Amino acid sequence: MNVGLSKMYMDDQIQKVVFNVLNSGRYINGQNLKSFEEAFADLCSTKYAVGVSSGTSAILLSLMALGIGEGDEVIVPSHTFIATASPARFLGATLVYADIDPETYTIAPAEVQRKITPRTKAIIPVHLYGHPCDMDPINELARAHKVYVIEDACQAHGATYKGKKTGSLSDIACFSFFPSKNMTVLGDGGMITTDDEKIAQKVGMLRNHGRTQKYVHDLLGLNCRLSEVHAAIGREQLKHLTEWNERRRAIAAQYDVLLRDSGVIIPVEREWAKHVYHMYVIRVKQRDNLASYLKETGIETGIHYPVPVHRQPCLMSDVHLPVTEKYVDEVLSLPMHPQLSDERVDYVASEVRNFMEDIGCRE
Ligand SMILES: Cc1ncc(COP(=O)(O)O)c(C=O)c1O
Repeated sequence: MNVGLSKMYMDDQIQKVVFNVLNSGRYINGQNLKSFEEAFADLCSTKYAVGVSSGTSAILLSLMALGIGEGDEVIVPSHTFIATASPARFLGATLVYADIDPETYTIAPAEVQRKITPRTKAIIPVHLYGHPCDMDPINELARAHKVYVIEDACQAHGATYKGKKTGSLSDIACFSFFPSKNMTVLGDGGMITTDDEKIAQKVGMLRNHGRTQKYVHDLLGLNCRLSEVHAAIGREQLKHLTEWNERRRAIAAQYDVLLRDSGVIIPVEREWAKHVYHMYVIRVKQRDNLASYLKETGIETGIHYPVPVHRQPCLMSDVHLPVTEKYVDEVLSLPMHPQLSDERVDYVASEVRNFMEDIGCRE
């Protein structure tokens, strides 16, 4: 049996809306973008949502809108995709890496506290794998030190923290619609959410060459627009998000039961969190051998992430982050997507158990 790590969704309705855009003659800044932004703001319970070209540009434009640049420090986790951190560096800011909570894999508030200095201008917590960060202590620290919080919600569409949606938990939040995400635009796309009218206006201008009217540019901006085709697809995908997230949660619950006493460490969901399982990530010391074994049995796995950001050649730092550095050798993402059948989940779990039994390993 072959089991893929993730799978994109496509149907006749999506094809229909794409054709409608193609026939409309309007390809940017049209009604599809407006409608997708309104629906996404609704999902996050925020006043504003601004569509952009990717999750990376969402983070870049958010930092630009907050005036972050040279001389500023930005606190980020290192156990994340590089795009959480690279935009700040791109703007000339200094990255300050914080270690993660050993159970949720998200940035540890105590670490943030330890790393704040008078030069800190922003914190970027990442709701990694779909599990929200512990935002209350992070927001408290931010208020006390007058620094901004930018949620990296690129992996957590529809997750909640203490009943509140990701995207609404800080000054500004960033989402990605990259093809493997919980919802996608079947290409590149992103969204910025905020309750702050000035920030929303500013990012809205920055994504479109900083312009106020045709050929008048008040701000130094970029072209980071979301096309009408992608917005139309995003609008359709969003209609399924809640149902898809529930299916991901059901799959996670099935894995939890089947793997609980297998010897691998399964993910946690804090009592204040609603996890949306963008990834189902286990930990095991024999990670590479398990991945090879699963590959032989037709099961695709992933490693998110094998090299932490602070060890990337372009962002190298000599900081020591013990939890992050240990976990990069142990994390393994199992197949997870809403179209995965119960039968396949059973198969994956039974092969993980077979491997663990074969090596006689119960941690
Ligand atoms: C945590 C995180 N941050 C940022 C990004 C960047 O998003 P994109 O690939 O849409 O630029 C991604 C997705 O790839 C991500 O997973």
